[in-house]
Amino acid sequence: MPRLYLSPPHMGPDERQLLLDAFDSNWIAPLGPHVDAFEQELSAETGMPYVAALSSGTAALHLALELLGIGRGDSVLVSSFTFAATANAVRYVGAEPVFIDSDLDTWNLDPDLVAQELEDASKRGRLPKALLAVDLYGQCADYDRLSPICEHFGVPILEDAAEALGATYRGRPAGSFGELSAFSFNGNKIITTSGGGALCGADSSRIQKARFLATQARDPAPHYEHSHIGYNYRLSNLLAAVGRGQLRQLGQRVTARRRVFQRYVAELGSLPGATWMPEPEGWRSTHWLSCLTFQSFDDRERVRLALESADIEARPLWKPMHLQPIFQTCRAVGGSVSEALFETGLCLPSGSGMSESDQTRVIELVLRAMS
Ligand SMILES: Cc1ncc(COP(=O)(O)O)c(C=O)c1O
Repeated sequence: MPRLYLSPPHMGPDERQLLLDAFDSNWIAPLGPHVDAFEQELSAETGMPYVAALSSGTAALHLALELLGIGRGDSVLVSSFTFAATANAVRYVGAEPVFIDSDLDTWNLDPDLVAQELEDASKRGRLPKALLAVDLYGQCADYDRLSPICEHFGVPILEDAAEALGATYRGRPAGSFGELSAFSFNGNKIITTSGGGALCGADSSRIQKARFLATQARDPAPHYEHSHIGYNYRLSNLLAAVGRGQLRQLGQRVTARRRVFQRYVAELGSLPGATWMPEPEGWRSTHWLSCLTFQSFDDRERVRLALESADIEARPLWKPMHLQPIFQTCRAVGGSVSEALFETGLCLPSGSGMSESDQTRVIELVLRAMS
């Protein structure tokens, strides 16, 4: 039986057709009609008026920080409970991340800790240059609480919505809450271009500048003229074609992932000590990954290893950034919540293309491991 992955790509005939169209048109470059169309379609999906299609979500985060003029000597508040790419981007621009813990009600950023840190930073006379808020595992952070706090201190929000395309919060789409927001279309995301990302914003000049920086910062001239350091961060037209096909299926993919999560909850919900990632009223998660915590590290490991021995991929929840060796000298505000989630938490196979029988296998193995 082939290995069952956590979140594999789920392709359909539209993607294949569009990819062949791009190929046959000979737009084999990081620009072209599919790139333009993908940007427009992402804009319609997210409600963000301007979008730059990029080579990765990490590139989008890097450009977002650069566009806000953040650099050496600055600090940025960052969710500790996230993938390393979020925090790495802060270091790319030479700034210092300050890690903020999650709360247990959402597993996302704890707004009280953000407020406390901004209050303290304001008293110290050195406010951070931004809050880099992560929408975790397909679920938005609590922007009704975060936005007024940040507005009060004049600190912009950058939204790392890499994991959350298709989610909504109080009816608004993920990616529409930050001054700039980043998406990822990496192979494990809800839709994928194999590798890819996007930067979204409401200010056209910023997104225009992102496109400029992402194409080696070429000044307008017949020869190659450069007055800025640039990057090679644009998305290939071939990959944008795949992304357009994927985007057409987003609604179905969200429904399918939510169904996977709901079946796990229905059939594993009575396990002693099992706690699922909460989805409070007003949130609509995509359940990009189906996540739960167990009573203990040993229970979590017993389940993970039982799945692994059946060639089924399951992963511990993110190891918080404040525990990562590379960030050990950074300041952390709180930390015990994400530490506990990491200690006992697991992501189960969650692909939108997972068959009922594969999910039955997972469920039976988990029940057996815990019996
Ligand atoms: C929260 C988060 N931020 C950023 C990224 C980086 O995106 P990419 O892999 O497209 O660079 C990812 C995932 O890969 C992520 O999960």
